[in-house]
Amino acid sequence: MITQFDLNGTAAYLNMEDVHAGISNRVASIKSVLQGEVGSAADLGWFFPGRWDHSPLIEEIQTLAERIRGDAEVFVLVGIGGSNRGAQSVIESLGDKKVEIVYAGDTLSSHSIQGILERIKDRSTYINVIAKDFNTLEPGIAFRMLRRALETRYGSEANEHIIVTGSEGEGQLATLAQEYRYRYLPFPPDMGGRFSVLSAVGLLPISVAGVDIRGLIQGAINAERELKSFSVEENPACQYAVARNLLAEKGFLIEDFITFEPSLSFFNRWWVQLFGESEGKNGKAIFPTGNNYSEDLHAIGQYIQEGPRMVMETFLDAHFPHPEIVVQPTLVQDGFNYLNYKPFDTLNSAVYDAAYKAHCQIGVPCFQFHVGEISPEMFGELFYLFMLSCCISSVLIGVNPYGQPGVESYKQEMYGILGKSSQGISQ
Ligand code: PA5
Repeated sequence: MITQFDLNGTAAYLNMEDVHAGISNRVASIKSVLQGEVGSAADLGWFFPGRWDHSPLIEEIQTLAERIRGDAEVFVLVGIGGSNRGAQSVIESLGDKKVEIVYAGDTLSSHSIQGILERIKDRSTYINVIAKDFNTLEPGIAFRMLRRALETRYGSEANEHIIVTGSEGEGQLATLAQEYRYRYLPFPPDMGGRFSVLSAVGLLPISVAGVDIRGLIQGAINAERELKSFSVEENPACQYAVARNLLAEKGFLIEDFITFEPSLSFFNRWWVQLFGESEGKNGKAIFPTGNNYSEDLHAIGQYIQEGPRMVMETFLDAHFPHPEIVVQPTLVQDGFNYLNYKPFDTLNSAVYDAAYKAHCQIGVPCFQFHVGEISPEMFGELFYLFMLSCCISSVLIGVNPYGQPGVESYKQEMYGILGKSSQGISQ
């Protein structure tokens, strides 16, 4: 594995022996996850990324993405939650920006939709609406607005600019695609949104952004092979799941996922969603949050350093190396001459070490995932590692990682406010 899990920074509370003991005490539950016994067939599609490797769908996606890249100026990804966060995390880090990728369907802000309509005006545009269950208002209504814009622009050829990734069945996107001749890609019936990034859901937008999706899949396949071959004690997915819950038992009920590349904030958001929606049930679970340093050292960093001791940090040691970017000397006496000719990478690694050290010293337990250079393979590996670890962690606290029944409450309230009929049929 590229990833090295390190818990040296939790030594004041926890060491590897404690984690091994924690694993032994919970070995049956952990093995049930590793053996694919947790969740139904409708949940476990993500567990076997190898199947995507030889799927004809990958070629279909790559061909479609090439066509879009040759013609589009803008590609609008319409989706929310698990339908967009995985793709966004890769695109914002590795996308080549040949086509501008715009995100819609994740807000009901009129200002946002107005801005998107403005951005696509007079520019060659494709939209990809992604929804496992096409009843969520945010993407549904954004799709309507954008579809109208394309119909106005392209007339009877608008359908050639619309790709839908969804499910089969009444009211679902497959039916709409058939009726209106949109290009259709399947939302795998055996995956929930936040576990779907390595399917058509994530792969088309990622491929349109020019990222090597085979590398991404390969990273996940490698992770699957290795994580399923480790002993439970040596398995980093198990170690991390157990360690974070042992810390929670000691009162660390918040986990802050820390990145040091601004573009990784979107990976951060994927991680937060994965753990938040999977574990936040039955009044249990660690509260997952994320920050990007240096910026957030000047915000939440104060709280971490001197606030109540209930936060653990998970540092993602991942970067884009640019050794050629060095601090330029200057004759201006600006007080920074001690940095002349130092590579920026040295500065970023100094702030990493400094934050880690300062936080550990004051008693913040800090995990580290060392992964090195950011690449498609790295994303594939981390996606798989964290999905597996999240399922183990969920089982350890006695919750089902799949589904998000709590999300329905706000939806029902909103339907009431907006007057949707009780049969669920839009008027
Ligand atoms: O992870 C999940 O399953 C959720 O976040 C869903 O992706 C989200 O609720 C959107 O669902 P849908 O794509 O069915 O509208």
